Amino acid sequence: MPITQEAILSALSRVIEPDLKKDIVELDLVRDVTVDEDTIHVHVEVSNPAMHSRKRMEEAVTFNLQQALGKEVKVVVNVSPLSGERGNLRKVLPKVKHIVAVASGKGGVGKSTITANLAAGLARMGWKVGLVDADVHGPSMPMMFDAVHERPTTTEKDGKRWIVPVESHGVKLLSIGFFADPSQAIAWRGPMASKALEQLFKDADWGELDIMLVDLPPGTSDIHLSLVQAVPLTGAIVVSTPQPVALADARKGVGFFQLPSVNVPVLGIVENMAWFTPAELPNNKYYIFGEGGARALAAELKVPLLAEVPLVQSIREAGDVGRPAVMQDATPISAAFHDLCNAVQQRLAEVTKPSPATTTA
Ligand SMILES: Nc1ncnc2c1ncn2[C@@H]1O[C@H](COP(=O)(O)OP(=O)(O)OP(=O)(O)O)[C@@H](O)[C@H]1O
Ligand SMILES: [Mg+2]
Repeated sequence: MPITQEAILSALSRVIEPDLKKDIVELDLVRDVTVDEDTIHVHVEVSNPAMHSRKRMEEAVTFNLQQALGKEVKVVVNVSPLSGERGNLRKVLPKVKHIVAVASGKGGVGKSTITANLAAGLARMGWKVGLVDADVHGPSMPMMFDAVHERPTTTEKDGKRWIVPVESHGVKLLSIGFFADPSQAIAWRGPMASKALEQLFKDADWGELDIMLVDLPPGTSDIHLSLVQAVPLTGAIVVSTPQPVALADARKGVGFFQLPSVNVPVLGIVENMAWFTPAELPNNKYYIFGEGGARALAAELKVPLLAEVPLVQSIREAGDVGRPAVMQDATPISAAFHDLCNAVQQRLAEVTKPSPATTTA
């Protein structure tokens, strides 16, 4: 078949944008098509900015062009995130730039503490931050943000009622904990919990955010699966302590996000409780859970180690009084969390930068 603009667009109209569920020609996502002898150059935009979704788009474009025009045609695809007005096309949370999940294999390793400090730290750096407490069985964000007695209000917009997130320390927050009696254990069944969680994303008026963090329950449960299906995650952070049992579970946590069916970029591992430092001996480090375990795991799995956070009493106290430790002025603890914020910012830039044009013969 001759390589004409019509033939190219007709082939591209078979490529469906996975989030928006329509073809990329109809959605006006084909930015540019040029033909240079037997090479077709195509620039396409995608809704989900993560590398894995761009890779999939690249493959779909190449496959459909070669199927329509012949295997011998060379295809150079350049994929970039939705720009300008088209940025609003994404159906789920179109005004949220990055959605990042914080997970761990093992429980009690400090996911919620790390998430709370990351959220408050990024907000201090001027980011617009949202936080979803997805731990439907043991929500801890209301306490960590001194918001236990807060209740989200609702607002009417475009003929629909929206939940308005609670705000604390510059972070917009929603937690299942806000909708249940704190003294009652919540006995959600799997599908009910997933549905309730989905509402926190889809029925809330989050507004524009630079980042939305999601604090997950421990392990890899139904909640994890339904989250990756319902929400376009930019990446995931896995928290571990240096103990062998925690590391074995962290490996499973990383493995979950790397499953072909999940395929969410792992931004890195955070080693929490890396060593113990007593308040009266601030320069002493006691490696009570072992030394360097998370660093070794990160190296083995080829994912970055984002930060090493010590075990210090003031981190626990700050969490209990609802004022994350990162908010203290210039302590070694706040410095560790600031390093974490910077590392996350850098990784987000890496995993979302426009992929270079790739040639497929
Ligand atoms: N670096 C730290 N230094 C001191 N205490 C810490 C540190 N990290 C976490 N903690 C404390 O350890 C306890 C467990 O932490 P956290 O609730 O953040 O863990 P989690 O992984 O979210 O637990 P769960 O699996 O139950 O959700 C909390 O009391 C918290 O204050
Ligand atoms: Mg937790």
